[in-house]
Order: sequence, then C-alpha cells, then structure tokens
Amino acid sequence: MGKDPLFVNKVAGAVIGAGLIAMMTGFVSGKIYHPEMPETPGFAIAADAAGSAPVQTAAVPTGPVEIGPLLAAADIESGKKVARKCTSCHTFEQGGPNKIGPNLWNMVGAQPAAVEGFRYSSAMRGMEVVWDFEELNKFLYRPRDYLPGTKMTYAGLRKDQDRADLIAYMRSLSDNPKPLP
Ligand code: HEC
Repeated sequence: MGKDPLFVNKVAGAVIGAGLIAMMTGFVSGKIYHPEMPETPGFAIAADAAGSAPVQTAAVPTGPVEIGPLLAAADIESGKKVARKCTSCHTFEQGGPNKIGPNLWNMVGAQPAAVEGFRYSSAMRGMEVVWDFEELNKFLYRPRDYLPGTKMTYAGLRKDQDRADLIAYMRSLSDNPKPLP
C-alpha cells in the first residue's frame, strides 16, 4: 500500500487550517474595518465638525468684521472721501435734500426709514433694528444681502477700513454724536 498513512490527516489539517485562516481573516478584517463603518464613531466626528462650524465661518472673510474695534482709530477725513461713493444718491449735510436716497444727517442711532418726505421700500420700512454701528456696518457691506428688497442699488463697501472711516464720519454728522461702542 503506497498510500500515505497520514493522507487523511493532512487533508483534514489543510481543511481545518483553511477554515481557521478564513475565520481569522474575517475576525481580523472585522476588527480593522469596524472603525470605518458609518456607526457611532463616524457620526460623532460629523457632529463634532458641525459643532465647530460657526467658529470656522467666523474665521473665513465672507461677511463684515465687527466694526466696533476699528472705529476708535478710524479716520473721519478719509471717511468723508469714502462718502463720495454715496453722494450721487445721498446728501449728508443737516437739512440736505433727499435725492435717489434719503438725506443721511444724524443717521447713526436713527430709526430706519424715518427721514421725512422719502418714499422707502417696504423692506426698509419693516426693519426692526436701529441704525447702530454694527447694523450700518452689515448693511453697507452688502446692502441687498442684508436687506433683500431694498431700493438702495449699491453693491456695497467690502473694505473694512473704508466702512470704519465712513461710519466714523457719519457718526460725526450729528449735534450729539453717539458714544463709540
Ligand atoms: C444708487 C443710489 C445709492 C447709493 C450709491 C447709495 N445709496 Fe444709500 N440708499 C439709497 C436708497 C434708494 C435708499 C432707500 C432704501 C430703501 O428704501 O430700501 C438708501 C438708504 C440708505 C440708508 C438708510 C436710510 C434710512 O433712513 O433708514 C443708509 C444709512 C444709506 N442708504 C447709506 C448709504 C451710504 C453710506 C452709501 C455710500 C457708501 C450709500 N447709501 C450709497 C440709494 C443709494
């Protein structure tokens, strides 16, 4: 009998071995791939990213910076020059006439849509804030984003320093300039 007496054992061993390898592979790959499955860990990371999103948006320059800190060092004379961008539609002096837009004397701290004799859009008449430094800052950055429906067809002032200088100039156009924030 030339038969290998251990043949059956070898075959059995090979089968069991293969089974073991398959089991271990499954076991190991289960361990390896488990963290990449979209279960709780992935969800937690996503929630984390969403939670930190406001911080990221604040860091990206997609909107106006806070104007308060820039006002203290703002230059009123330079603001007067910036205001030339507005004079095709606005007058700034006390008692000045309304043009395409209303007269802008004493606008800082004023109620929106309150200049006599000017026909405002319903959007501006419906505003529920006063024109404090930050509201003017946001409005002047991009008027039609700030107030959809406004009649002010002006693209906006993107340069922070220009807005700060201009708002400082507008603040000075009053018998009682509002205190700086
Ligand atoms: C193309 C004309 C035009 C230009 C340029 C323009 N504005 Fe206006 N502005 C308007 C009109 C029109 C309104 C009224 C908006 C409404 O009724 O929705 C207005 C409204 C305003 C108001 C609100 C007034 C209130 O009584 O509530 C402010 C503040 C203002 N403009 C500031 C400025 C400044 C500062 C500039 C220059 C950087 C400027 N505007 C440039 C047309 C203009």
